[in-house]
Amino acid sequence: MTESANPERVLLHYLDQESDLCDIENYVADGGYVTAKRVLEEMSPVEVIDTVKESGLRGRGGAGFPTGMKWGFVARDTGKPVYLLCNADESEPGTFKDRLLIENDPHQLIEGMILSAYAIGSESAFIYIRGEFRKGYDILCHAVEAAEARGFLGEKIFGTEHTVGIVVHLGAGAYICGEETGLIESLEGKRALPRIKPPFPAVQGLFGCPTIVNNVETLACVRHVMEKGPSWFKGIGPEKSPGPKLFCVSGHVNKPGVFELPMGISLRELIEVHAGGVANGRALKAVIPGGSSVPILRADEIDLAMDFDSVAAAGSMLGSAGVIVMDEDTDMVATLRAIAHFYHHESCGQCTPCREGTGWLETILLRLESGEGTEADIDTLYSVAGGMLGTTICALSDAAAMPVRSFLDKFRDDFLGSLAPAEG
Ligand SMILES: Cc1cc2nc3c(=O)[nH]c(=O)nc-3n(C[C@H](O)[C@H](O)[C@H](O)COP(=O)(O)O)c2cc1C
Ligand code: SF4
Repeated sequence: MTESANPERVLLHYLDQESDLCDIENYVADGGYVTAKRVLEEMSPVEVIDTVKESGLRGRGGAGFPTGMKWGFVARDTGKPVYLLCNADESEPGTFKDRLLIENDPHQLIEGMILSAYAIGSESAFIYIRGEFRKGYDILCHAVEAAEARGFLGEKIFGTEHTVGIVVHLGAGAYICGEETGLIESLEGKRALPRIKPPFPAVQGLFGCPTIVNNVETLACVRHVMEKGPSWFKGIGPEKSPGPKLFCVSGHVNKPGVFELPMGISLRELIEVHAGGVANGRALKAVIPGGSSVPILRADEIDLAMDFDSVAAAGSMLGSAGVIVMDEDTDMVATLRAIAHFYHHESCGQCTPCREGTGWLETILLRLESGEGTEADIDTLYSVAGGMLGTTICALSDAAAMPVRSFLDKFRDDFLGSLAPAEG
């Protein structure tokens, strides 16, 4: 299979640079911060929001919510500060794109945050970075200090009347800290227990103030939308799901890694061309297209455009674009048990269906994996997962249940094959 047209890399531009873009001197020499200065001098915040709306940018954190529309929900004129939070918790298994952006091009993110903060009327922004990402934390702290020293962050930035400050906050080392209201609770110094919505953060978020939470890749995209214009962004990939996209490919492939490609690239091309195909000459068995929490696809379902709407139409989700590839020798029972263990461990325990359901899923899967399961266990697994869908405060419960239902729908024979032999 041949490679489709591969436009200029923008998010992973650092790969095409000889100099280290973590150094602010190099970033500035490469044209960095010119866009932020120009926009703050020449455009109003409403014009920035309209530009991002026009670009069609959809959030890269998982749900694909239109970014400009979300910004438009910010409650204005409340007399309270408005906060911008960058979600750098990146804990979804199979997802490792935000870490690359942070560790190799932190100023791209900071510039995107300056533009986004300006658009929503926020003078105080935070980067909430996963507790285990110590290296990225140090790089970001250093980058923020360098930008402050240059007058790009702080008061009267770029010689304008505008103030934007960024605080880098090391997270609490739990998956649930990435759920936006759990993140807000954690940033307030409490346990990351997700909040019931509404009210949504745009109305009542951090410290009860209007707050926007955006993913690292989303905010990095804003820098390029404002530099190159909405038509450039909209011209890449499908009309309703446009832009450059980072795809993380892991598992049984020859060349695992992060690939910047147009949204809507075919899953087959991503695996067979960019990731070098299934390793060791084996056949493909299954693919999880968007991180461990989304429904699995069979090998015969990979002629699929990788954009939010097409993957949803195929019964799964693009999610965080964490593509996990499994070859013909993969033990589906053991794989699902490992996924179930993760969600059981990470459930915050507030909601009964999630707290109890994740435990039941893991217990039954352990029984099946050890060869002691029965056919009734498979039915119970399916029905427990069904009771966990759409009944809880946050989406972790759905994230735990959806893989179970899809593994059983698509690989039931693998589960039947694991059963204890009938007695007599
Ligand atoms: C359990 C759970 C974990 C999440 N983890 C992350 C995460 O690590 N990073 C992220 O950007 N979004 C994560 N999200 C999605 C966020 O709640 C939020 O939708 C996202 O940060 C919004 O950014 P976006 O609009 O730019 O996509 C998670 C959601 C759930 C339910
Ligand atoms: S769904 Fe699970 S993780 Fe989310 S709030 Fe409820 S118990 Fe906590």
